[in-house]
Amino acid sequence: MRVALFCILSATIVLVSSVGLREEFIYRLRIVNYIFSIHSENNIPMGANVWRNKLFITVPRRRLGIPSTLNYVRLDSPQKHNVPLTPYPSWAKNVYSGYETPTENLFSVYRVAVDPCDRLWFVDTGLLELPGNRTKIKPMTLVIMDLNTDTVIRRYTIPKYQLKDTSVIATVTVDITEFCDKAFAYLPDFAGFGLIVYDFRRNRSWRVSHNYFHPEPGASNLTIGGLSFQFNDGVFSVELSQVKSNGFRDMYFHALAGTHMYKVSTELLRNETLATVTNIYKNDIKVS
Ligand SMILES: *[C@@H]1O[C@H](CO)[C@@H](O)[C@H](O)[C@H]1NC(C)=O
Ligand SMILES: *[C@@H]1O[C@H](CO)[C@@H](O)[C@H](O)[C@H]1NC(C)=O
Ligand SMILES: *[C@@H]1O[C@H](CO)[C@@H](O)[C@H](O)[C@H]1NC(C)=O
Ligand SMILES: *[C@@H]1O[C@H](CO)[C@@H](O)[C@H](O)[C@H]1NC(C)=O
Repeated sequence: MRVALFCILSATIVLVSSVGLREEFIYRLRIVNYIFSIHSENNIPMGANVWRNKLFITVPRRRLGIPSTLNYVRLDSPQKHNVPLTPYPSWAKNVYSGYETPTENLFSVYRVAVDPCDRLWFVDTGLLELPGNRTKIKPMTLVIMDLNTDTVIRRYTIPKYQLKDTSVIATVTVDITEFCDKAFAYLPDFAGFGLIVYDFRRNRSWRVSHNYFHPEPGASNLTIGGLSFQFNDGVFSVELSQVKSNGFRDMYFHALAGTHMYKVSTELLRNETLATVTNIYKNDIKVS
């Protein structure tokens, strides 16, 4: 296991991550604050990932009062608890100040992925997700950054026709089997119930639709801590197998509201024609 991620919805936050089973570290963020002494409230970290000395921590804009969505803390920081977050790549690039905000500024990020080529991948949802009132601030965009230079190397706006009104993409899983330029990314749309496949070399994406990307109605009643509710999330994130003898991996996935695991070969997903045009592939997505 390379990195363990936690989706956290409580006031006491423990981020645990392990790198190559050798290192382990625990950060406890009881209070989320930032290196800049500004007013912040309702800040709930939702994603964490590690690259070298940086522990990235994301705070999606699901409430008002979030100063910066993409941040990090240093792993060698002597302070381990309530470490103030440092906006990444900068404070200026995370600020939201209404219509005057530069369009490339980051608005809302759930999770980040780190690939073997020192690149950081994430989707900026562009959504202000206040309870019961979701506002689209900017288009949903896949952003890829060079971690060595802290600069954006690719910004890809997901075409509108590949998204639904309800779409939210929280995670990116990167698939590199040969060299850095030949990279694919799988972006599950957990609220629009589909999967976007992005081809880095062609700078192009397509949407894959299948019933298995939907929540299972019989599994969407949840009770947590005595509170019962209906939960309608589809696939939140996907995981990949090792490269198989045919040069492709299997992608494993399940709806968050669901009890079945499915798998499909990336040979199919990476082939735009097979994944979008023909119906044959439907039998190639299997219960795992
Ligand atoms: C929804 O949120 C937006 C942005 O904060 C705000 O302008 C709007 O008034 C809100 N609408 C409702 C119905 O609360
Ligand atoms: C990739 O596509 C996006 C469309 O969203 C475009 O803005 C961008 O310039 C393209 N980048 C490259 C390197 O072709
Ligand atoms: C889900 O919960 C509702 C309300 O409690 C109940 O009416 C319904 O039968 C439940 N469905 C399943 C599949 O458990
Ligand atoms: C996609 O699959 C079709 C049918 O198997 C095949 O003819 C085509 O060459 C594939 N395209 C790519 C880019 O691999």
